[in-house]
Amino acid sequence: MNRVCFSLILVFLLSAATFFQGSFCESRKHRSSPALNNFDCTSVFRIQGNVYPDGYFFATLNIGEPPQPYHLDIDTGSDLTWVHCDAPCVNCPKSPHKPYKPRNNALTCKDSMCTFLQHPLNYPCHNPSDQCDYEIEYADHGSSLGVLVKDSFPLMFLNGSSTRASLVFGCGYDQEISSATQAPFVDGVLGLANGKSSILSQLNDKKVTKNVFGHCLSGQGGGYLFFGDKLVPSGAVWVPMLKNKIGNHYSIGPAELLSDGQNVVKGGLSFVLDSGSTYTYFSGQVYEAVLSTIKRNIDVKQLKSVPEDKTLPVCWKGVKPSKSINDVKTLFKPLLLRFSKVKNAVMEMPPETYLIVNKKGNVCLGILNGTEAGLENLNVLGDITLLNKMTIYDNDKSQIGWATANCDRLPNADRHRDIHFYQSEHGFDEL
Ligand SMILES: *[C@@H]1O[C@H](CO)[C@@H](O)[C@H](O)[C@H]1NC(C)=O
Ligand SMILES: *[C@@H]1O[C@H](CO)[C@@H](O)[C@H](O)[C@H]1NC(C)=O
Repeated sequence: MNRVCFSLILVFLLSAATFFQGSFCESRKHRSSPALNNFDCTSVFRIQGNVYPDGYFFATLNIGEPPQPYHLDIDTGSDLTWVHCDAPCVNCPKSPHKPYKPRNNALTCKDSMCTFLQHPLNYPCHNPSDQCDYEIEYADHGSSLGVLVKDSFPLMFLNGSSTRASLVFGCGYDQEISSATQAPFVDGVLGLANGKSSILSQLNDKKVTKNVFGHCLSGQGGGYLFFGDKLVPSGAVWVPMLKNKIGNHYSIGPAELLSDGQNVVKGGLSFVLDSGSTYTYFSGQVYEAVLSTIKRNIDVKQLKSVPEDKTLPVCWKGVKPSKSINDVKTLFKPLLLRFSKVKNAVMEMPPETYLIVNKKGNVCLGILNGTEAGLENLNVLGDITLLNKMTIYDNDKSQIGWATANCDRLPNADRHRDIHFYQSEHGFDEL
């Protein structure tokens, strides 16, 4: 760990004053409900990216004064938000925007946020005026090392109101990029797991939004992310979040896995939802069962295995090269997760949520062997499986919901059209 180049001046400047301008945006009809539910503003962010070839989805958030845009990888598998930091940056890959310039806004280690955000093994607070360092390592061995800072995040709400919230995030001046990651890179990570430290928990503590967010990732690439509950569809399927067995991850279960009405794996499975993971990972035996079911159902006249294609471990070649998933999806059967404790709770996994078509026109399995990837017994639903549905994480009610959706446009786009215009005028990306 190299901390010598760090040159932030260790002065704690921000007071505990409130940092709001503008309204809390609570709606009048909620005035009579309990005080804590008096706010229900929803903020929407455009998502860009795709499963293949880029391998990630990012949202654009503005930070600072004047606000600067940053592309942040959306990660429901971790809770620290950080950006590349010009402190100076020891090890920053080329990112789309200029690194964030801290301006004496580092948190001290006695700040309560510091204890929430710090990795347990991090630095003890010997001197209360010490800055609050953090270090985070991801499952793919990428990592970020830096200091926690506090700065203003302008937020737009669906009804056109705006606010600024002063939030704590990481200013990362030493990053290890996983060797699996390829350019173009992002400016940082938007940590959405349900720890105290996430941007969303902070907004919730400040009574700006409910502790609810959702994303809609389009199979065509792109989509949208929202904080708040205004866009939650009435027809969503809900299951309780499993209590954190594993860090602050969102996990659901128990469930069984089916294909074509037949059990592939009998009950008892749980799944982590991880938008920071491109593909889906099943642990050894589950992976084996799914792989053999898929192989058994393949019509060998239509699809031949191509072990020489190294895009992903398992690929097939059609009679002709495939242009898109639409050319081959009828050759595969949907998978289904059935949640045993909630009536009628199923998550469908149509072929386009577990297969990709690569540049050679081959079709490859986007479900990988989690045991091989070092995930041990975890089953992880990555971006590919979360495609073409709205996925909602309701931390207030400790439940996860989903509904099939067209993620290429906002629901009720007409009603919100004026808002998009307003946002783009104010430097937000147009949806
Ligand atoms: C948005 O809603 C809040 C709360 O109801 C209200 O105070 C604000 O004026 C609204 N903004 C617009 C632009 O309608
Ligand atoms: C999954 O990975 C484990 C560990 O590398 C390996 O032992 C197992 O054979 C793999 N399963 C399949 C079906 O490839």
